[in-house]
Amino acid sequence: MAKVKTVFFCTECGNESPKWVGKCPSCHAWNTLVEERFTGSKEKSRVSHSANSKPQRINEVQAEAMLRIDLKDQELNRVLGGGLVPGSVVLFGGEPGIGKSTLLLQIALKQEKLRCLYVSGEESASQIKMRAERLSLHMGDCYVLTETNTHHIIEQVQEIKPDFIIVDSIQTMFSPVLESSPGSVSQIRETTADFIRVAKESALPVFLIGHITKDGALAGPKVLEHMVDTVLQFEGDRNHVYRLLRSIKNRFGSTNELGIYEMQGNGLREVENPSEILINPNDEELSGSAIAATLEGLRPMLVEIQALVSTAVYGTPQRSATGFDTRRLNMLLAVLEKRCNFKLGMRDVFLNVAGGVRVDDPAIDLAVIAAVLSSTADVAIPKDVAFSAEVGLSGEIRPVNRVDQRIMEAQKLGFNRIYLSKYNKGLDQKNYNIQLMKVGKVEEVFRGVFG
Ligand code: TYD
Ligand code: MG
Repeated sequence: MAKVKTVFFCTECGNESPKWVGKCPSCHAWNTLVEERFTGSKEKSRVSHSANSKPQRINEVQAEAMLRIDLKDQELNRVLGGGLVPGSVVLFGGEPGIGKSTLLLQIALKQEKLRCLYVSGEESASQIKMRAERLSLHMGDCYVLTETNTHHIIEQVQEIKPDFIIVDSIQTMFSPVLESSPGSVSQIRETTADFIRVAKESALPVFLIGHITKDGALAGPKVLEHMVDTVLQFEGDRNHVYRLLRSIKNRFGSTNELGIYEMQGNGLREVENPSEILINPNDEELSGSAIAATLEGLRPMLVEIQALVSTAVYGTPQRSATGFDTRRLNMLLAVLEKRCNFKLGMRDVFLNVAGGVRVDDPAIDLAVIAAVLSSTADVAIPKDVAFSAEVGLSGEIRPVNRVDQRIMEAQKLGFNRIYLSKYNKGLDQKNYNIQLMKVGKVEEVFRGVFG
């Protein structure tokens, strides 16, 4: 009879321990160890190392030109760093219902020259077919397989010889080598290792769909993120139609890129010009709204910042922000109070970044301040004005990176004036049709915009 071995795994970091302890010796998290059993030897499933690998001088190593597979989806291609790399393993995470299966099925169906194998452990083949019909795309050379045993899947891969595979989801897969149930730490590790092995052996790219827990971590241990080449996260507010695709880790490209999609009745549509959707098309001038020129990765976009300042009904004024850091909002309000003599101490302040996106770029500070001032004074900011600068603690307007790209984006969208820091270097009005309003202090902005 095969020997049964019991080990304990930390659900946070995946650390293996022969006995149970209250605190993980590796990541020091409390009460995270779970028991799992193995039958038989694990060794047979491990990657064999080639016996004759020798150290080589780095300048003698032959670098193969990195071939990229075009997936016919500009957003996904860009987030991957210019296309899918053969043999790479991409973990595609997101909350349930956000659209992971929809997006990847859509990618599978769109291909004309590439054969895709879509492995599902969550839906039946007919459910997938129904979804595919809903997407109303031409159904290319796409195969569906409903299977959760990785060894069977790998046999099918060798038979069908797809150009890439999609596994929906890694939490439902199991390896017969282990006794523990699908979704457990050791199963996730083992099945991921199985897919990584096929990927590397046959230069086959693999997408692994992974669920995300409530606090935003990929369910399963962190080790999963270390094992794969690329980690993408699909996020967005389920009540909004826009979905953002971010890269959290990428061995073959930058992690700064952002992809934007719109969920429609027939699948996800790529959004090529994000500024158009993030700015309110309203013709009226409303107080409390300011446009910021921000960058997500290398992509400039304009977002609308909305503020509402009202008299506090209860004793303690409320400060709340959606899509922006509340602590940073508090800091900006303190700057306004101290430097510009605005008495905001007894007022409620609500801030919202329109479109349900989250922005971390400090260059939207000036737009936040402008929106708050506009709401306080109940005077609208002219519709042709944009802002792009960081605000420091002493009320100084600080320069931002890649200011030229931001200016060009505002110019492209028909803005006539953009407020910037006067400390931005090398900006020449001659090069732009949009008027550059260079300011050094918050007071100057206030005078400039509201007169
Ligand atoms: P799904 O891809 O199943 O999410 P995940 O795999 O991340 O759990 O997406 C499910 C949601 O997407 C579902 O609530 C309905 C919506 N949806 C559309 O709005 N339009 C569509 O064309 C499709 C296929 C789904
Ligand atoms: Mg799904």
